[in-house]
This record gives sequence, C-alpha cells and structure tokens, in this order.
Amino acid sequence: MPDARPIGFFDSGVGGLTVLRAAQGRLPGESTIYIGDTARHPYGTRTDAEVLAFSEELADALVARDVKAIVIACNTATSVALGHLRQRHPEIPFIGVVRPGAAAATLATRTGRIGVIATEATVRSGAYFAAIKDQNPAVQVLTRAASELVPLIEAGDFDGAELRDAVDLVLAPFGATVSGPRVDTLLLGCTHFPLIKRLISTALGESIAVVDSAAATATTLQEVISVNHLEAPGSTRGTAADPGSAGHKAPERAAVRPTHRLFTTGDLETFSALAERLFGEKGPKAEPFPSANP
Ligand code: DGL
Repeated sequence: MPDARPIGFFDSGVGGLTVLRAAQGRLPGESTIYIGDTARHPYGTRTDAEVLAFSEELADALVARDVKAIVIACNTATSVALGHLRQRHPEIPFIGVVRPGAAAATLATRTGRIGVIATEATVRSGAYFAAIKDQNPAVQVLTRAASELVPLIEAGDFDGAELRDAVDLVLAPFGATVSGPRVDTLLLGCTHFPLIKRLISTALGESIAVVDSAAATATTLQEVISVNHLEAPGSTRGTAADPGSAGHKAPERAAVRPTHRLFTTGDLETFSALAERLFGEKGPKAEPFPSANP
C-alpha cells in the first residue's frame, strides 16, 4: 500500500539541507518537511540536555505533522538524541547521519587511518569513534572538534578569508608529515561541512579523500522506506532498465505530485538565501516555524 505521507528532516540550521538534497535526489517521488532550528543554532557547543530537549521538540513537531519517517540531518542531534527519540516514538523509523557516514569513510580508507571533524558535542559523545570501530576495529580514528566553522558557514560567506583561515587551522592536524599523510580519508562529521567541501578538499590536497554522510544517509533512508513498505505512490522498486517485469511490482501511478516544505525557526531571509544557493531558483520557499498554517 503506497504511503503519500512526507518524510521529516531536522537540523540546527542550514547544514541538514545537504542531506535533504541527497535524499530528494534518491527518492524523487517522496514529499518532505524540513525544519532548521536556526534560532537556537549552533547545537554543537550546547550541553547534551539542551540538544536532547531541542531534538525532542522538533521530532514531536514532525510527528504532529504526520511524517512517516524522520531523518536527523544533524550529527550533533544524532549523537546525543537518536536512541532517545527512537524510544519516544517507536512507531516512526528514525535515520541518523553518524552510522552511514562512518560506513562510507571505512569503505573509503586504504591506509586504515580516518580523520573526523565534527562539533564539540559530537566529539564528546564518542559516536563517530564507536561507529567507525564497529565497522572495522583496526581503523585508527583521529578526531578533532571544529565547532568554530559552523557559525562562519551559517553566515553564508563560503569564500571569506576568515573561513579559509579557520579551515586551515582545523585541518592542520590531518596534513602530511615527513613520513606521509596522517590520514587518507577525512570524514565531515557535521552536516554543515559539506557546504564547504571544495574548500576543505583544496586545503587538504588530492591524497586525502573527503567523505560526507549525505549520500550514504540517503541510501539508508531509501532502504528503510522500502523495507517498511512506505514508498510514495509512483515509486518503483525496479530500476530504469527493469521497472517491474522481473518480479518487481510495477509502480502505482502517482495521483499527487510530491510537496516540499522548508521551515526555519530563525531569520527567513538568511535561511532562504542559503537554501536557494543549494537548491537553485526552483527550490521551495522557506516558511517561519512554528507556522500558522502547518
Ligand atoms: N549541523 C550540525 C551537525 O551536523 C550542527 C552544527 C551546530 O549546530 O553546531 O552537527
């Protein structure tokens, strides 16, 4: 039975839009609702109790809007609140960004040395260290907190000198030594960081692969939607080459087009400008949250 309900996403601000964009590319028939908690951002320097309370509030708001699954498009909230939210809403599948990112980085490394940059709260939780060790206990993990990049990214000036200097400082522990590079893979453990992926890759040089969790999270989301039989009408389990003849069910015709809503708790113009930069002109217009018209 197709399920036309939207998929919910939340983040502390604009960073999670990188995950939303990857998910929309992977699941074009699905409706989405995204909440960026820009007013209370950044989460990464807050206490666990605060991150837990904010995450609970946003998840509850999405559940009240009848979403069929929730993607925690924020590493900090995933690290601190994923287990709690799964217990609070057992009927809703929650997808975090930490495990998919850890799996992608573990597949990418050839030397078994992975660097991770994330917020203070994410580093403090040890979530990435544990998730990477779960994938392969032999991998060495070098983690560095880089919360100082988040407000600079949220400000939207991706080419600014202040941001470039801050990136150089953050990346210094991962660079090459006389005996070779310290890591061969850098995992962007904060959903804000893919917004400056090119800057980070250029600063690190070609010998270090830069991995983020957006694509891997979208793949996990697709699996979760499929396994739970939650696909929107018009979705197919087949492929472009084989839409159904080899045992897949042919897709139902989509009665309604998917809808996409973007909410922010903060300044509408700043959020809209960044969203537009990511999605281009055709992206949905941001709305204030809580909205008078949910
Ligand atoms: N984008 C969030 C993350 O992935 C948090 C950034 C912040 O609010 O500090 O951790």
